[in-house]
Amino acid sequence: MALGFDGRVAIVTGAGGGLGREHALALAARGAKVVVNDLGGARDGTGASSAAADAVVAEIVAAGGEAIANGASVTDPEAVQAMVDAAMAKWGRLDILVNNAGVLRDKSFAKMTLEDFRFVVDVHLMGAVNCTKAVWEIMRAQNYGRIVMTTSSSGLYGNFGQANYAAAKMGLVGLMQTLAIEGQKNDIRVNSLAPTAHTRMTEDLGAALPLEALGPELVSPGLLYLVSEDAPTRCILGAGAGGFERAYVTITQGIHAVGPDAPEQVEARFEEISDRSGEIVPDMGAAQGMIELTKAQKAHG
Ligand code: NAI
Repeated sequence: MALGFDGRVAIVTGAGGGLGREHALALAARGAKVVVNDLGGARDGTGASSAAADAVVAEIVAAGGEAIANGASVTDPEAVQAMVDAAMAKWGRLDILVNNAGVLRDKSFAKMTLEDFRFVVDVHLMGAVNCTKAVWEIMRAQNYGRIVMTTSSSGLYGNFGQANYAAAKMGLVGLMQTLAIEGQKNDIRVNSLAPTAHTRMTEDLGAALPLEALGPELVSPGLLYLVSEDAPTRCILGAGAGGFERAYVTITQGIHAVGPDAPEQVEARFEEISDRSGEIVPDMGAAQGMIELTKAQKAHG
């Protein structure tokens, strides 16, 4: 069935360029009213300008869609609240939040300052927290919400020179895991998107493919599904170059080891602990404790 967004209102942060711009255009083309947020700074987060967000709004309007521009920094809770208030005043509801704004301050951890670490965590992780907090009560009250965190393979699996970025991006997955659980009874679905695309952010990376093959517009189909009526929840979706994958945080069945030689047992049986047969994707954190208690109960006969 066609994914439609008629009557839905969406906020896309960092939508002045790159992936966010494509998400905003794709949502608007399918009927959503869109708040195009972008601080309009440089890749490292310095500076600000409303030109980028204004240009995307002009594109949407020229194509017959509805959109408003917003220049709030996602790091500023008051400005974020004002953005949400403006959307509510104009359209009366808020259905979709795409947390996409981001910056880079890459350096090996040895050379990275704490200031560069904090700044990147503040934009990616606290930026998403600020925006999500500002829409949460609205979504709870209307019993409908679709929220996406933009994570990254760098967070899920690591990448040299991106300790700050990776920590923030995996933090977003933790945020998703809990908000998906807390949002469930009000039909608020929360997912994570791990994109791969050629944008300003990745322009220094050599690509093995022609750049068109890594166009950011090839990621947006995955985003559209994650914010649609029949979206999944607690899903980590990889998307890039037309490829779509799903990543999981899993746990193995492991072993039970107690007593004075427990450290030696952990060492000796590490292969068994690591054995992935019987691995599960827990539906909440308590599942780990359940696996452990079940083994302890068995050991106690
Ligand atoms: P981009 O640099 O083109 O887009 C990021 C946008 O966020 C920019 O337009 C920037 O002005 C805006 N922004 C930065 N700080 C902001 C703030 N404080 N408040 C509001 N807006 C702010 O880069 P791209 O690639 O489109 O990135 C989008 C998202 O996707 C980011 O979260 C990035 O970390 C993530 N991502 C991108 C990948 C890629 O391959 N391009 C890979 C993995 C994740």
